[in-house]
Amino acid sequence: MADDIIAVKPEIAAKARIDAAKRAAMVAAEAKDPDAFWRGEMTRIAWMKEPTKIKAVDFNGDVSIKWFEDGVLNASVSCLDRHLATRGDQVAIIWEGDDPNSDAKVTYRELHARVCKLANAMRRLGVKKGDRVCIYLPMIVEAAVAMLACARVGAIHSIVFGGFSPDSLSSRIQDSECTLLITADEGRRGGRKVPLKANADEALLTCPSIRHVVVAKNTGGKVDMMEGRDHWWDALTEGEAAVCEPEPMGAEDPLFILYTSGSTGKPKGVLHTTGGYMVWASYTHQNVFDYRDGEIYWCTADVGWVTGHTYIVYGPLANGATTLMFEGVPSWPDNGRFWQVCAKHKVNIFYTAPTAIRALMRDGEGPVKKHDRSTLRILGSVGEPINPEAWLWYYRVVGDERCPIVDTWWQTETGGILISPLPGAVAQKPGSATLPLPGVKPALVDNEGNLLDGATEGNLVLLDSWPGQMRTIYGDHARFGQTYFSTFKGMYFTGDGARRDADGYYWITGRVDDVINVAGHRMGTAEVESALVAHPAVAEAAVVGMPHEIKGQGIYAYVTLKAGVEATEVLRKELVAWVRKEIGPIATPDAIQWAPGLPKTRSGKIMRRILRKIAANETEGLGDTSTLADPGVVQELIDNKVG
Ligand code: PRX
Repeated sequence: MADDIIAVKPEIAAKARIDAAKRAAMVAAEAKDPDAFWRGEMTRIAWMKEPTKIKAVDFNGDVSIKWFEDGVLNASVSCLDRHLATRGDQVAIIWEGDDPNSDAKVTYRELHARVCKLANAMRRLGVKKGDRVCIYLPMIVEAAVAMLACARVGAIHSIVFGGFSPDSLSSRIQDSECTLLITADEGRRGGRKVPLKANADEALLTCPSIRHVVVAKNTGGKVDMMEGRDHWWDALTEGEAAVCEPEPMGAEDPLFILYTSGSTGKPKGVLHTTGGYMVWASYTHQNVFDYRDGEIYWCTADVGWVTGHTYIVYGPLANGATTLMFEGVPSWPDNGRFWQVCAKHKVNIFYTAPTAIRALMRDGEGPVKKHDRSTLRILGSVGEPINPEAWLWYYRVVGDERCPIVDTWWQTETGGILISPLPGAVAQKPGSATLPLPGVKPALVDNEGNLLDGATEGNLVLLDSWPGQMRTIYGDHARFGQTYFSTFKGMYFTGDGARRDADGYYWITGRVDDVINVAGHRMGTAEVESALVAHPAVAEAAVVGMPHEIKGQGIYAYVTLKAGVEATEVLRKELVAWVRKEIGPIATPDAIQWAPGLPKTRSGKIMRRILRKIAANETEGLGDTSTLADPGVVQELIDNKVG
């Protein structure tokens, strides 16, 4: 079953932007003369000064990645200004509220005006090119406006997902020393309110760099406003002009920072620059989704994640698309919500995460079939491996076997999609992200970095750069080299493992490092551990991923308590609540096991391999435990496994 092949239907290939022959021609053209290929693709965005230099990349030494470096542009012009003459009155954003009775449509002309007004107000508040602006907003139109207004004035936005705690918000603001915060009174999700301004107020107690706060009125809930620091969005922008000179930006000037989890330490600020990122966002959005003028495109992600950056805002708007922004959740008011929204707005392209598909699958076909999905043409998946069963359900039940599925593999670091079928060109196999996009050079290596040929399994690397690649970790270029280019010399290491079959198709097997993927949300085990040990009762903690039917992976924590502390059910609940408060609800541990001791080597290193196996109930072949300081703790942990 897993190796089923679903061929490209001839009628789909005939109409697609890219069919198999075109794809082959693109791959060949890029291989023959990469600079000429990317010189052609760079014209998909608007330049104030066209680049003459295309690519300057060195994955060795200090690692330097530059694309289109002498070009000058402003990302907001590609997304807004250049569309005004041809599609000013076309809807740019359809907003669908958490409440099924609330929605709104914003044309390109209106969006341009709203962005300009905020950009002017930001300049008046003293925001300049290169300043960092934190955005902590729910899924409302203002989120897109804020991003584009930052781009307009050359400020670097750093979006923090609205589900993160005050502590998480504060540490991200501190790391990049943001001077402005843009937030809202409250958010809404699944009928509940999220106290964003109150969270922000708490975070700002420890953020001396913030000079101003812009607050969008969303729910109308009561909030505290600090005189001189806090400004209501509407009052602030009211008198501003609806035009604003875009800041000329070098192609390699930063566009945004987005914090993401790694194997160790605190989340790192992934930095993307302007020219290459915009080319990549446009190239991948148009080709992977085979986007055609006039279509309604919906990506269900939150703008707090990279998927929202590239595939709700920058990619679709650069391509003049109508992009849908959804404030709510798939299960509220009922679990037919996705399909109700598809029917209501006549969605053509739908892009979501496997965890949502698996959750909706549980309720059977009823909630899907109740709604008209005849406008759907392409279905997408992102964020984690999609199991063949969920893939086939998506294909058969949601897409009525009509719609190709694009399983898109990529990362915050890659800026956009790298491995994915092109719907008119590549046959699909349920569970495989299939083949690299033209211009992308994946490979598999063994643990020593030797390239592996043919059908095999190994560590997924990229041998060369693509325009959308991250350029550095904000404020820590040494960590950038160390994290991504030191494991395998001269290659970008993704942190993922993958299998490649005899057709050259890639099957991503998941992270091979200490990063876990919980319901498509990336989480560092070290972050959860440091939250746990910050609790006064905890002496030591080790966190691993465990298989979870819906979320893909769940969070399993082994906790050693301080001497004299009693292991009670009350304490277990308290620790769960503590982690939610420290990091945010997405880090909620699924299981906490009391561990009188942890399996350690004689040099004191925790053997996570063993802890992962115990959490997964795979205690048969635990492998070599002879190097453990105290092999007895393993049996003790197995005997007391929870869940
Ligand atoms: O493990 C891979 C998984 O998500 C990781 C990247 O997470 P993040 O930076 O949060 O970006 C998520 C959205 C792009 C990857 O290292 N991943 C992402 N897409 C897929 C996937 N695993 C399997 N199949 C995918 N299509």
